[in-house]
Amino acid sequence: MDWGKQNRISSIIKPDTGKTVMLAVDHGYFMGPTSGLEKLDEAVNPLIPYADTLMLTRGALRYYIDPGVRIPITLRVSGGTSILNKEAMLHEGIVCNVEDAIRLNASCVAFSILVGAEYERDTILAFTEVIDEATAYGIPILCVTAVGREMARDARYMGLASRMGAELGADIIKTYYVPGFDKVVESCPVPVVIAGGKKIPEKAALEIARNAIDSGAIGVDMGRNIFQSTSPVGMIQAVRAVVHKGASVKEGLEIFKSVRDKEAGKAIKAKAKPKKARAKK
Ligand code: R5P
Repeated sequence: MDWGKQNRISSIIKPDTGKTVMLAVDHGYFMGPTSGLEKLDEAVNPLIPYADTLMLTRGALRYYIDPGVRIPITLRVSGGTSILNKEAMLHEGIVCNVEDAIRLNASCVAFSILVGAEYERDTILAFTEVIDEATAYGIPILCVTAVGREMARDARYMGLASRMGAELGADIIKTYYVPGFDKVVESCPVPVVIAGGKKIPEKAALEIARNAIDSGAIGVDMGRNIFQSTSPVGMIQAVRAVVHKGASVKEGLEIFKSVRDKEAGKAIKAKAKPKKARAKK
């Protein structure tokens, strides 16, 4: 692997642990102002210190993120359909070229392939175009697999889609945790991270992260289970402990609760202050 590509990958996958916490906030590219990301900057800024990379669209990056930020960017470069178009949802093509990704100082580009969908060929051919272009400049490619309700979420499917992504040239695979995940990882020659999926209770999301890491995943690319949490900062710290420090679900949950409770305490104090001030007058 070329030095530049290795260097970019090592900015995302931390060399000391070999793991990564990718914060996915790219949902707007097909879902619009997703719950929790209406004011993307306000949602994301407090989370940046705890993420190893920020995954988002070029529009979100330009409009919401301070260019002075010190975090590697994973830029989504596929898209083309919306959540409203149920029939062709995620029939994606290239929506951002590698030249613009370089202009944005992206450390990685992300592309969704829809293995098994009617239009799989279109997504796969567009994906390989991006791979050719990105590889020429030493930019790593994250292959997003298995998004979409109709995708069979079992180890056989995840294994097939992940292996295809790798053989087509991806450097990192993003998929979903399923029972038998160790088989998915074993048959994939490149690192695998898991998406979080729809919001579920914090404990369940931490369990998925723990199980995925124990099965050989090198991290998470998690969105809604962090930014839609009652305490996004608490949740990302908990996920980080699970991914990088080998924390158990119980330990992760304790971190989450302690941050959440501290935040709640601060909020109560802040509310109480003006009242006291009024009482003095
Ligand atoms: C979906 O294609 C997007 O790339 C999301 O970033 C991805 O699904 C991860 O986010 P979440 O953890 O919310 O599923």
